[in-house]
Amino acid sequence: MSYRETALAKFLLFVEPGPLTLVTTFDGKKNNVMTISWVMPMDFDGGLVMATGPWNHSYEALVKRKECVVCIPAQDMLETAVKIGDVSGAECDKFALFHLRTLPAKTVQAPLLAGCQACLECEVTDVLARRGLLLLRVKRLVTDKSKAKGRLWHARGDGTFTLDGASRNLRRLMKDKLPPGV
Ligand SMILES: Cc1cc2nc3c(=O)[nH]c(=O)nc-3n(C[C@H](O)[C@H](O)[C@H](O)COP(=O)(O)O)c2cc1C
Repeated sequence: MSYRETALAKFLLFVEPGPLTLVTTFDGKKNNVMTISWVMPMDFDGGLVMATGPWNHSYEALVKRKECVVCIPAQDMLETAVKIGDVSGAECDKFALFHLRTLPAKTVQAPLLAGCQACLECEVTDVLARRGLLLLRVKRLVTDKSKAKGRLWHARGDGTFTLDGASRNLRRLMKDKLPPGV
């Protein structure tokens, strides 16, 4: 299967649960990718907060180019995602090292990572440097139905990871809190 255009409102399905993400950037010459677990939504209109800083090589590209793609790894990508977060693009080409395939995005120059559940093309709208926070706005969402099965990987903070398990549908109790299209 391949990526399909998906209504922006559905971005919440991929970031509300606080999953492990892979964030691609383009610095004007080279693509890079890093692992980020500290991402959360901040509104219903594609707003996201990401906690990162200048200790990562990707940071300069994020701040200067003001864009990135937040990719949600497929279930079989956990080990690769952790390895991506253990080396720096300043020292290697992670795409070659980990055999990662990219596809062109439409609204940003950073690439989509192939084989993921979803890719969120984002603009960096604000840099809260003192707090190590970047505010992002999702401009386009693409998803791969064959990979997006509602189960996301989560970092537990100690080098262990959890894949989503049981879920319950309580939509009837919070109808008025759900945005249209979700
Ligand atoms: C599981 C995992 C989660 C991570 N989450 C974050 C995060 O939320 N924020 C952050 O700044 N770095 C995080 N990192 C660290 C970066 O991914 C790591 O420093 C990476 O090497 C940066 O790549 P770069 O130097 O090519 O930008 C995480 C690493 C791992 C392995």
